Amino acid sequence: MANTVLVGLQWGDEGKGKIIDVLTEKVDLVVRFQGGNNAGHTVEVGDEKFVLHLIPSGILHEGCQCAIGNGVVVNPLTLHQEIVELEARGFEVAKRLRLSSRAQLVFSYHCIMDGLFESKLGESKIGTTKRGIGPAYADKVNRVGLRASELLDLEGMEHRFRTQAAFYNEIFAEAGVETVDLAAEWGRLKKVAEKLAPMVEDTVVSVNRMARDGRNILFEGAQGMWLDVDYGTYPYVTSSNTTAGAACTGGGLAPSRIDHVVGVAKAYTTRVGEGPFMTELFDGDGERMARIGNEFGATTGRPRRCGWFDAVATRYSAMLNGVDKLAITKLDVLDDFETIKVCTAYELDGKTIGEMPVCTRDYARVKPVYQEVPGWRQPTTAATSWQELPTRCREYLEWLSRLLEAPLDIISVGPRRDQTFFLE
Ligand code: IMP
Repeated sequence: MANTVLVGLQWGDEGKGKIIDVLTEKVDLVVRFQGGNNAGHTVEVGDEKFVLHLIPSGILHEGCQCAIGNGVVVNPLTLHQEIVELEARGFEVAKRLRLSSRAQLVFSYHCIMDGLFESKLGESKIGTTKRGIGPAYADKVNRVGLRASELLDLEGMEHRFRTQAAFYNEIFAEAGVETVDLAAEWGRLKKVAEKLAPMVEDTVVSVNRMARDGRNILFEGAQGMWLDVDYGTYPYVTSSNTTAGAACTGGGLAPSRIDHVVGVAKAYTTRVGEGPFMTELFDGDGERMARIGNEFGATTGRPRRCGWFDAVATRYSAMLNGVDKLAITKLDVLDDFETIKVCTAYELDGKTIGEMPVCTRDYARVKPVYQEVPGWRQPTTAATSWQELPTRCREYLEWLSRLLEAPLDIISVGPRRDQTFFLE
């Protein structure tokens, strides 16, 4: 297993949480390296369902250590709430979770600012999760953010929190939106700070120690490649790098120590929020995918937009992330489709192109060129090995692997742990 980075190859919601949960059986440490509680990683264990927003999915496996790296933006109130809920369900979180002293903190003023930006954008809004992610990363690069190390110095933290919140309150008052009640918010923060402080450490040291000792480390990516702030469908993206390279900058392990990259893709495509979606469907097939796949955002509950598999965009993702293990999820959602389409090229201004257009603004103008194959029309949900999949289904998967130029490794045919198998 060694040191592995796991990333989403589409627009998030690829089922990463579930694959991470299965991989974690062989893992000693799981590290989140970017994003924040905009993520919602769903894992079903037996009859129980867990949706994790900030805490790495590894927490569901006893004996697995977890770390929130410096690249993550952490809302302390939400993190505390998540810890309390997991502890109430019998998980020992405090002992197993470490929080990087360099992780940026997210406060309610970031969330209000997120909403204000969105309302100012009007029809051009991004469709954010309103979790304050963009404003928190903006504070980081503006060098005015507070980091988790502040939790170890409450006096200093209070001063810096109040200064920064007052600055935002001026903006809010002028814009005529709600302001932050400083005393009430600080009161809440102080309480949770006491609980979180013992978890704060320089995670670079613990991550590298484990790597040096030959332990298996899994870097858990959130969102997906096309939401990456550099490479995604800008400006309709999130505010962090969601691609594999970010595991090094946001998780604290050097590139020379990374052994594998697992790329997770759904057998079709979904997207939440605004922005181009080259294979989006507005017909009965899209509605069918949404219904069978229960396509509602795990964080906001918003319905997800659905479409066919986009091999052009996903090949780009596989290339950029250096995927050497491909995981295909939600295969079972396609079980009843008479025919299945895959986008293998785009049409732009009358020309057929096999690669992504140079300008991201053209992503919204391309038309997908599809190839169509007959569906397998048999349930796959009980399959526990490659051999048990219908022939046409195996052909579909092999075709995707060829198109993506990435070797298949993991298949998922349902939400439960036991509905996932490896090809080895
Ligand atoms: P933000 O990350 O809340 O700023 O939202 C920016 C864009 O990323 C919006 O289109 C969101 O819907 C999308 N997004 C953020 N996190 C996730 C996720 O975990 N899954 C899917 N989409 C996400």
